[in-house]
Amino acid sequence: MTHPTQPLNGDFGILIDQVSPDDLADPDFQAWARGLWLDHGGLLGVRGAQLADLLPEQLVRWSEVFGVIEDKIQTAREDKSVAGFPILRIGNVRNKDGKMVAQLLQVPQLTGDADIRYNPETRRPVWHTDSTFRARPPVGSVFHCRKAPPEGAETLFADMQGAYAALPPEERRKLDGLEAVCSLAHHDKKINSYSPHYPVLTPEQRKENPPNRVPLVLNHPVTGRPSLYGLNSSTCAIVPKGQEVDPADLDKWDLEGVEDDSVMIWRNMLPTVTGPEFTVKWQWRAGDIVVWDNRSTIHSGTGFDYSKYEREMWRLTLVAEAS
Ligand SMILES: [Fe+2]
Repeated sequence: MTHPTQPLNGDFGILIDQVSPDDLADPDFQAWARGLWLDHGGLLGVRGAQLADLLPEQLVRWSEVFGVIEDKIQTAREDKSVAGFPILRIGNVRNKDGKMVAQLLQVPQLTGDADIRYNPETRRPVWHTDSTFRARPPVGSVFHCRKAPPEGAETLFADMQGAYAALPPEERRKLDGLEAVCSLAHHDKKINSYSPHYPVLTPEQRKENPPNRVPLVLNHPVTGRPSLYGLNSSTCAIVPKGQEVDPADLDKWDLEGVEDDSVMIWRNMLPTVTGPEFTVKWQWRAGDIVVWDNRSTIHSGTGFDYSKYEREMWRLTLVAEAS
């Protein structure tokens, strides 16, 4: 391939530049890009002047190179999707009637690169693996920029394969035997405690959504490389693999939104694993498409001046390995 590439942070992450919509549809380019994605810790960006006007169907076809697309948009979000496509709109754009047509989650702006590292006092940035509370957590996501503010709104990524490999062997062995208990009820209650309008699960919904368990160290199904895994707002405890949880403890985590002390096993690692040697700060340009592997990276959003600028992102979720 003749496209220029640029590594983002050593072996972690790679950008392919001067990409056109025709490239995205070219099977040779697709195979090359997927190989680069797997070889660079599951973080790949493509950039090109013509990608800013990419059609939704072109983005869908490109996304299918990396995984099977989740084809349902939650009912409540139908008005925040690209009509007829499994693409969620994220940002602060409005239609001509002034109605918000994208999903907005306001988070703080970075004041400098030192803010990229997790701060135990503020618990920010909210670094996480996506949706570990689901029985089958997503394998990755595709994020495409339609409109970018001139400053802020970066997306942060951290290399969890590199972070695991850098741990001392005895620490790795300890983590290998653990799993995270991830509960949707805990997740919702935790958010509700600082955003009181956020709904919590009814007792019936709680019963229908029992906690999911994921390993703290996940071996990548394609490359076999191990990665730190399973930190999400739903992570309410970390236990030895297979160990039963006391229902009274689960009630407390779910109904009060408090984490078990064992979650500190993960949180105590966060300042190190979100340090400069493991992280990438992606500054968006209109047209950019980034694919991240949810099994080998963690990520976090950052804010921008919501009153001054407009942002629109398109997001697809990948739920299974590409066949
Ligand atoms: Fe996320």
